[in-house]
Amino acid sequence: MNSFQSTYKAGNANIGLSAEVQRLKVQVMMGWEKEFRNLQWFGLQNGMHILEVGCGPGFATEQLAQRLPDSQITGLDLDEDLLKQAEELMKEKGRENVNFVQASVFDTGLSDNSYDFVVARMLFLHLHNPEEAAFELHRVLKPGGKLTIIDIDAGIFGIIQPDIEGFQSITRKLTEMQSNAGGNRLVGRSLPRLLRKTGFTEIELETVAVHSDLAGVEGFQTQFDPKRFEGFYRNGILTEKEFSHISKVTERLSEDPDSYAMMLFVMACGMKS
Ligand SMILES: C[S@@+](CC[C@H](N)C(=O)[O-])C[C@H]1O[C@@H](n2cnc3c(N)ncnc32)[C@H](O)[C@@H]1O
Repeated sequence: MNSFQSTYKAGNANIGLSAEVQRLKVQVMMGWEKEFRNLQWFGLQNGMHILEVGCGPGFATEQLAQRLPDSQITGLDLDEDLLKQAEELMKEKGRENVNFVQASVFDTGLSDNSYDFVVARMLFLHLHNPEEAAFELHRVLKPGGKLTIIDIDAGIFGIIQPDIEGFQSITRKLTEMQSNAGGNRLVGRSLPRLLRKTGFTEIELETVAVHSDLAGVEGFQTQFDPKRFEGFYRNGILTEKEFSHISKVTERLSEDPDSYAMMLFVMACGMKS
């Protein structure tokens, strides 16, 4: 296992690249109003120099560019194909305050003390060595600048109603699998310590709750799309019964009026003194 790599490659998604990009889009938009509200509360302001690491196809980047038109925003990602899509999106939306860099979060090649605010959304759960990434982001921040990590924690991931038998064991298996691959689906709980250990101060922790009654069911349906889990079933990680439970989640969300889902995202912020 290479400690400077990660567990995510959009092109390897079971649902195919374009469906995976669509899933990322829907997932960004599910909680974005609240995420942005928290980012502002943590100190994000128009006019800042902003770095978004692991920006992928750029849906959050585009939101930042739209809402902070006097900011200069850098989107950084390892994946050339996703960066091309992000560039297309900025062109399509006419966002001229964004530039992209193809690099790893472990070695960004960016100058010391050059950003006011760094955002890392759904990246740290995939990193083999999150401390090295946080040190690198600390380096590129200006003194007084802030890093916000938006991520998940499987322990408080969410609720599906009616409860699906075996749902907890499925979550545990996915967490175990992610851990064996070098990632961490329990990363949310470790963020305050990670930030402290890598030199950040003034650490804050918030959650964002997304509920299907308020945000619609689409995001949850793409999240629990059975095709995403088919490979795990074929590899014997999920049993046939567990796999069919996942299919039931998506079916119920669209067909059963008594069904709903709620999901929590964790947001942790720290300042470079
Ligand atoms: C789950 S996606 C999240 C994309 C986007 N931030 C969002 O919230 O929709 C994780 C992203 O991190 C990128 N990534 C993975 N490892 C990376 C690394 N070492 N350095 C930079 N980006 C990385 C992937 O290419 C992918 O775009």
